[in-house]
Amino acid sequence: MSILFNPAKIGEVEIRNRFVHAATYESMAEEDGRVTDMLVQRYSRLARGEVGLIITGIAIVHPLGNVPGRAIGIYSDAMIPGLKRLAEAVHEHGAKIFIQLLHAGAQTNRQAIGRTPLAPSLVGPNPMYLNLARPMREREIEEAIRAFGQAARRAAEAGADGVHIAASGGYLLNEFLSPYFNRRKDGWGGSDENRFRIMREVIREVRRNLAPGMALTVKLTANDYTPREGITTPLAARYAKWMAELGIDALEIASGCTTYSGWHIWRGGVPVKELVKDLPGWQKPVAWLKFRSMAGKYDFSGPYNLEDARVIKAAIGEVPFILVGGLRRLSQMEEIAEKGEADFVALSRPLVREPNLVKKFREGRAEASSCISCNKCFAEIVHRRPLRCMASGG
Ligand SMILES: Cc1cc2nc3c(=O)[nH]c(=O)nc-3n(C[C@H](O)[C@H](O)[C@H](O)COP(=O)(O)O)c2cc1C
Repeated sequence: MSILFNPAKIGEVEIRNRFVHAATYESMAEEDGRVTDMLVQRYSRLARGEVGLIITGIAIVHPLGNVPGRAIGIYSDAMIPGLKRLAEAVHEHGAKIFIQLLHAGAQTNRQAIGRTPLAPSLVGPNPMYLNLARPMREREIEEAIRAFGQAARRAAEAGADGVHIAASGGYLLNEFLSPYFNRRKDGWGGSDENRFRIMREVIREVRRNLAPGMALTVKLTANDYTPREGITTPLAARYAKWMAELGIDALEIASGCTTYSGWHIWRGGVPVKELVKDLPGWQKPVAWLKFRSMAGKYDFSGPYNLEDARVIKAAIGEVPFILVGGLRRLSQMEEIAEKGEADFVALSRPLVREPNLVKKFREGRAEASSCISCNKCFAEIVHRRPLRCMASGG
């Protein structure tokens, strides 16, 4: 039997195999972030499909860090009963669940949070939301750090097995870590050590609030692909080493921050028509030009984070490493695991298409995902419809 079906641990959490459901925003929560039946069914199906570890889609830690749409909320105790249902549904079928904790920072809009978005620094209008963000005051930074801690407490009360801190995707923690977004000259910027300070404090605060035995993992951007230099692989490796020293239980990397770096984060098709068609009339021409200019530039290229992974994995020693991005063939994943290039393999789009893919792999009924990386699933969530595969047969 392939190494991928051997159990392994992340911290003290034993996972039945090496397959991880990569965080995938589902656009299925209530408007206020409470868990719905649809979410419970989705996670139950994934667990029945034999995924070992399910990392949830983004869960918002603070109302000012919300995104437009229907993301899961973990910013108030009222959310705990729904999150508990989610954890129970996953556990019932033998999988483990880590909740992905996120503060959106500048990558949101006034409609979503009721005021000007917060950021480390003022960096011109966000290319997608076209709005400016306001530099955070010291006490707002401290409030955000506490919010991550309180979210971790709620995850523990809900019975989750761990939390996965999003320092990726261009959101708040990514912004603080990035020399492009973080132009502060106070104790939170100006040097790599200072830019890392918020991460250090978030990791400590989250750890303090987790129940014993729960895991703390991080998703880190390895490359921002911003117009001027942001996080690059060597800097990400430096941060990864510091995170390992702080005792994180596993690390996953991503590439690109969504609204600045085109399609680097997922690669593949740019579904221009689907992305534009339901936008308000005044937004259509600009959006069409923007997406059209990206089409054909991010061809799908297999496991596209592997090169960055080699550098970053070397920096974290024995800390388990989760590889995500473009993994489609079982034999390829096996080779990666056997060579020790990753301890876990994470899948997002393939599990949107086939939530039972891991079971199919184990039973010898599939050798590869049938996902064609058309990214029409992404267009669905942009328009606030529930996540689903839109390719034919999906
Ligand atoms: C529809 C969609 C939603 C996503 N939502 C999230 C998310 O909530 N959090 C996150 O860290 N990454 C998110 N991602 C990125 C995935 O976790 C993953 O890094 C990326 O899709 C590459 O993996 P894949 O080739 O297996 O799809 C999302 C990707 C897609 C396609």
